[in-house]
Amino acid sequence: MKEKLKNIISKVIEGEVPNFSVEVSDNKMHGDYSTNVALILAKKLGKNPAEIADSIKTKIKDESLEKVEVANGFINFFLSEKYLKDQLQEVLKQKNKFGNLKIGGSKKTRPSDDRAILRDAGLKPKDLVGIPWMVAFALRADGWYLRSDIIWHKPNPMPESVVDRPTKSHEYVFLLTKQPRYYYDAEAIKETNTPDMIRRAEAGHTRGPNGKIDTSRNDSDTLRGDDAKTITANGRNRRSVWTVATSPYSGAHFATFPPALVEPMILAGTSQRGACPTCGAGWVRVIEDSPEYAAVKAEMIGKTHEDTSKELERGKQQGWGKDKARVTQDVNILGWRPACSCYAVPPLPAAPEDVNGNMEAYRAERARLLELYATLPTVPCLVLDPFAGTGTVMRVAAKHGRSGIGVELNEKYIKLADERMSKIQTIMQF
Ligand SMILES: C[S@@+](CC[C@H](N)C(=O)[O-])C[C@H]1O[C@@H](n2cnc3c(N)ncnc32)[C@H](O)[C@@H]1O
Repeated sequence: MKEKLKNIISKVIEGEVPNFSVEVSDNKMHGDYSTNVALILAKKLGKNPAEIADSIKTKIKDESLEKVEVANGFINFFLSEKYLKDQLQEVLKQKNKFGNLKIGGSKKTRPSDDRAILRDAGLKPKDLVGIPWMVAFALRADGWYLRSDIIWHKPNPMPESVVDRPTKSHEYVFLLTKQPRYYYDAEAIKETNTPDMIRRAEAGHTRGPNGKIDTSRNDSDTLRGDDAKTITANGRNRRSVWTVATSPYSGAHFATFPPALVEPMILAGTSQRGACPTCGAGWVRVIEDSPEYAAVKAEMIGKTHEDTSKELERGKQQGWGKDKARVTQDVNILGWRPACSCYAVPPLPAAPEDVNGNMEAYRAERARLLELYATLPTVPCLVLDPFAGTGTVMRVAAKHGRSGIGVELNEKYIKLADERMSKIQTIMQF
């Protein structure tokens, strides 16, 4: 399209072809493409750029353009819906050959084939482009909150015949949210403690060369902080590297997700209890620290650096650090509460400041309300996959009692998704 627009402009300005550019607009208010031709011509001819831009604009007529506008001497081009639809039809017609399309003349559209495009983007041949990160940063710039990059580690990656870089065995999963506070059920996706962590905690301390406990050592064999005292039976907070083997799929789609990759995203991102039928807000798990864990935390919390240093000194003298790990529940799961006010039920009371004072009354009121909440209706949470392929995401959603909506460009894949879905759910609505 850039080339096409350049040709159109060159014809309009009849031979006076300065070294102007046509670029994709950063801001949709400025159309799809934008050119600086009027600014360059104005400099050359000593004239007003807006007048030149207006004069060029009136002479540009092409059915691929919805409208042409002038702003600050730039000429902005807005592509027509018909043109965009035609391009999409062409992509569908070409199916697998997409990428080698010759849209726009003899120029290939696949950037990797086009050195000039790579150079324009500041890339050298063989550079890693980092498309996933570019998408993540673009979404962040667009207002999304980029909360986490998760490494999908594939223990069975595609073999690559490269000898000058490592074989790629990971992809990225980005946790993006629309608000700074969002639904995230950490309990639902906790991971089990590693045997190494349990071993280190059970050792509880490190011995120096003389066989004596050496609490001053800060090496990897000594668990520190809370970890040194408790290994939580609930497991530990999910880490950001997920090892999931790609699963073979005999159908005619080559990039299906393994269900185990999708599972944590759905479990953490939606509520097992369901959502409010009126506003769709997911219900929130109600948890409290187990008394044993709360006691350990109380021991650890509120100590200044100075206190800790003093204790370390005292510990050195007294053999501090002899504590073995305690395996304990870190949280007790009490139930679920609505996250909205649609049900018009009282909210859970705030925990009393004075724990000794009215804790019993607080617990009784909380239990009464949780019982009441348990009688309220919910609808299954809804999962959307805008690139549904064979519908793995929807299948995993259904397996966990969530609803699913999938969007897929290719009709063939929709049929595959339907076949796979029919094994767990009889009707799929189109
Ligand atoms: C990587 S596959 C998804 C595979 C899927 N997660 C699964 O497990 O089967 C991406 C899918 O997105 C589809 N797709 C690409 N562009 C699309 C668009 N603009 N709208 C809808 N689907 C699109 C492709 O046809 C392809 O099936």
